Amino acid sequence: MASFSLILIRLSLVAAVLTASFCQLKAIGIREVVDDAVGEQREFDYFNFALQWPGTQCKNTRHCCPSNGCCRGSNAPTEFTIHGLWPDYNDGTWPSCCKKSKFDEKEISTLLDALEKYWPSYRCGSTSTCYSGEGLFWAHEWEKHGTCSFPVVRDEYSYFSTTLNLYFKYNVTRVLNEAGYLPSNTEKYPLGGIVSAIQNAFHATPKLDCSKDAVNELHLCFYKDFKPRDYIIERSPENDNYFSSSSCPKYVSLPVYTSSGVDDATAAIPWILENEPL
Ligand SMILES: *[C@@H]1O[C@H](CO)[C@@H](O)[C@H](O)[C@H]1NC(C)=O
Repeated sequence: MASFSLILIRLSLVAAVLTASFCQLKAIGIREVVDDAVGEQREFDYFNFALQWPGTQCKNTRHCCPSNGCCRGSNAPTEFTIHGLWPDYNDGTWPSCCKKSKFDEKEISTLLDALEKYWPSYRCGSTSTCYSGEGLFWAHEWEKHGTCSFPVVRDEYSYFSTTLNLYFKYNVTRVLNEAGYLPSNTEKYPLGGIVSAIQNAFHATPKLDCSKDAVNELHLCFYKDFKPRDYIIERSPENDNYFSSSSCPKYVSLPVYTSSGVDDATAAIPWILENEPL
C-alpha cells in the first residue's frame, strides 16, 4: 500500500512538472498573443513609433499601383514617413489584435489627405488584418497594433490623429538635415552621429534598422504620456552594446529615391511587412 501511494505521489509530481514546463514553453514561444485571446492581454508598457525611409523602402519597387507611395513620381515622399505606432511591453514582446474593432475608413475620412501623404504604403497588394481578413496598410496598423493602445488611445480616429501629431511634433527628417545628414546616394554617415543628433533633439535614444547600409526604419519610443524615452536595449552576452543590437553597420546611407520608371503593371504582388511585429 505504502509503495502504491508513493507511486501516486510521484505520478502527480511528474504531471505537475510537465504542466509547469509546458506553460513555460508557451510563455517563451508565443511573442504575440493570438486572436482568440481577445481581451486577455495585459495593458502595454510604452509606445514604439516606427518611421520608414522612402529611399530605402522604394529601392526594390518592381510594380506600381495607386496605393504605392513609391509610384508618385515627383510627389513621392522625400522624408521619413509613418509605419505605425506600436504598443509594446518592456520585455520585448507586444500585444496584438486586442479589441474587435474592424478598420473603417469612414471614421478617418477627415485625415485621409494627411495619411496619404505622411503614412503611405510602399507596396501594392493588401496586408493581413485581424478582423477584416486583408486590407489596407492602415487597417493592418489599426487592427493589429492600434487596438492594443487602450486605454491611452481609445478609438480608431484617435489612433491615427495621435500618431500624426507625434509625427509633426518629432520631425526626425528635420533633425537629421540640421545636423548635416542629408539624403544622398553617395555619402555615408556615422550611425553614432545620427543617433546623437536624435538624442540631442529629443532626449531619447532611437533605434535604427538598415537594409545593408541603407537606413530603412527609425524607431522612437514614448512613455504612455508621450514623453520620449530610450529604445529598450535587449542585452545578451553576444550583443552587449547598442550598436551591435541594431541591424545597421557603423556607417550608413540615406538614399534618395529616384523613380526607376517602373511600369504600372496592375499585377499587385501580395506582400509581407518587413521589420514589423505582425
Ligand atoms: C519636417 O521638417 C522638414 C525640414 O524642415 C520640412 O520640410 C517638413 O515639412 C517637416 N515635416 C513635417 C511633417 O512637418
